[in-house]
Amino acid sequence: MDSHKICVAPMMQYTDMHDRFFLRLISKNIFLYTEMISTGSIIFGNCLHQFSFNNEEHPVAVQLGGSNPNHLGECSKIAEDYGYDEINLNVGCPSERVQKGKFGASLMLEPDLVSECVLKMRTNVDIPITVKCRLGVDDNDDYSFLENFIKIVSSAGVETFIIHARNALLKGLSPRQNRTIPPLKYDYVYKLKNDFNSLNIIINGGINNLDEAKNHLNHVDGVMIGRASYDNPFMLNEVDSLFFNDHSEKKDKILILNEYLDYVEYMEGNGHDLSRMLKHLFGLSRGNKNAKLFRKKVHQMMLNGNIKNSRGDLINLL
Ligand SMILES: Cc1cc2nc3c(=O)[nH]c(=O)nc-3n(C[C@H](O)[C@H](O)[C@H](O)COP(=O)(O)O)c2cc1C
Repeated sequence: MDSHKICVAPMMQYTDMHDRFFLRLISKNIFLYTEMISTGSIIFGNCLHQFSFNNEEHPVAVQLGGSNPNHLGECSKIAEDYGYDEINLNVGCPSERVQKGKFGASLMLEPDLVSECVLKMRTNVDIPITVKCRLGVDDNDDYSFLENFIKIVSSAGVETFIIHARNALLKGLSPRQNRTIPPLKYDYVYKLKNDFNSLNIIINGGINNLDEAKNHLNHVDGVMIGRASYDNPFMLNEVDSLFFNDHSEKKDKILILNEYLDYVEYMEGNGHDLSRMLKHLFGLSRGNKNAKLFRKKVHQMMLNGNIKNSRGDLINLL
């Protein structure tokens, strides 16, 4: 399965529809994920707008957070009608808020419930249901725990698993610490692919560049990159040629910037918040000699809202 060779991780406050549009300008083939959307916010919170996305984003999956099979089924149907290519169930988030809602990483302790959720979701839609999980939670850190989870959930029809290759510690660590402190164990994920060869296994966690991604692809079907791709989005510029045999001319940073600013101007006219759109540009100058000045200029534009007059200056700083 080639579609998920390089994925960009779902990240709250980061991978919103604007960031995904921006990333799509850089690579035609990366697989994109929305931020997690909780079923409660859709069913009880009147927050349907969270499902909005740009047509240009495909292929794009929506990530749902929840543990009530009926609610997940209902939200899956809405997501499919919106036109998403895949629905991903979050079984990896360790935040306290999510634990209180009894979903996210704590669901790793309840593989039968996850199966029930997935079965309900699958009955309601035709698009694939995938699962993003950890290696385990708390003291459940041996391979057999993960193996058992995957065995049960895959028998409910999940064919693609994205594994953040560290445990989640539900007590005592913040979500941020939970992304750095528990050790990465890539060997568990490789073994999973070996033991469940027919499943699509996507590895995630601590992958910093495309060289590392290439090495992982010797063992698994796909790689998901989160923080590194946000901090340095232009690294994804090589994805199409390196992994998808697409050698058409690559866009340079200036073209990407211009295309994104056209989008920002258009979307601002449609009522979208300028700061939320411009903040995704910070990483574009990564590695450039004027990176700091570029970021300062973006910041000024966020404050004064004047894209037309600042566009030329910004381009000169790239
Ligand atoms: C700011 C931030 C927000 C995140 N939000 C989500 C989320 O909504 N859903 C999810 O499954 N993971 C979320 N994650 C975890 C990432 O998807 C990913 O699993 C994690 O960052 C490890 O990958 P990385 O080392 O490549 O960043 C978030 C991570 C960050 C940094």
